[in-house]
Amino acid sequence: MALENKLGIDNSADLAREEERISKKKAVALFETGLLDQLEAGKFSSLKAIHKYLFEDVYDFAGEIRKVNLAKGNFRFAPLMYLETALENIDKMPQSTFEEIVEKYVEMNIAHPFREGNGRSTRIWLDLILKNELHKVVDWSQVDKEDYLLAMERSPVRDIEIKHILRPALTNDINSREVYMKGIDHSYYYEGYTTFKAEEL
Ligand SMILES: Nc1ncnc2c1ncn2[C@@H]1O[C@H](COP(=O)(O)OP(=O)(O)OP(=O)(O)O)[C@@H](O)[C@H]1O
Ligand SMILES: [Mg+2]
Repeated sequence: MALENKLGIDNSADLAREEERISKKKAVALFETGLLDQLEAGKFSSLKAIHKYLFEDVYDFAGEIRKVNLAKGNFRFAPLMYLETALENIDKMPQSTFEEIVEKYVEMNIAHPFREGNGRSTRIWLDLILKNELHKVVDWSQVDKEDYLLAMERSPVRDIEIKHILRPALTNDINSREVYMKGIDHSYYYEGYTTFKAEEL
């Protein structure tokens, strides 16, 4: 069974393919129109706008905070009860050094505000902060996907691995569409969620 969607697709493999195709087209437009550069780097409002833009043709929940608790692997993302407070606190986190920016990214991943598409939208959000603050972005083609995922799984406990992976991948090539699009190459990362009810917490 596929996640409820605007495309009328009920097979999850078909949905994954169509979702990827449509969101990539939207990601290009987000970049090419200059809309992305108008967003305020490091705020939840900008992540919300990115998520809405990428997924508005696919999901009703595009840009909307999730209404279920989520887990991946053994990790439970921020409980719904604390999600809004967590997002307000993340907005206030500093972002003037590479370390601070990655720490902010890690917290946003723990918040995982959306039902789907957190990885892609939050990597674009991360790059927007890096671009604004450090005039750099991550060249995701230099980031091994498996290493990235392992480091992200580890990041709520210890963020040194993800810092270690992202730092050498920084590039000054901040206006390259190819570099930007590498960050949302989705197919390698796919893994589904477990959802659970509040009383199971
Ligand atoms: N066990 C875990 N613990 C913490 N974070 C995780 C875990 N597994 C995955 N993540 C993070 O969640 C992201 C995936 O979130 P989600 O599936 O909502 O987004 P996506 O855009 O569909 O996926 P992707 O990042 O795979 O392109 C990963 O990129 C990673 O940063
Ligand atoms: Mg996903």
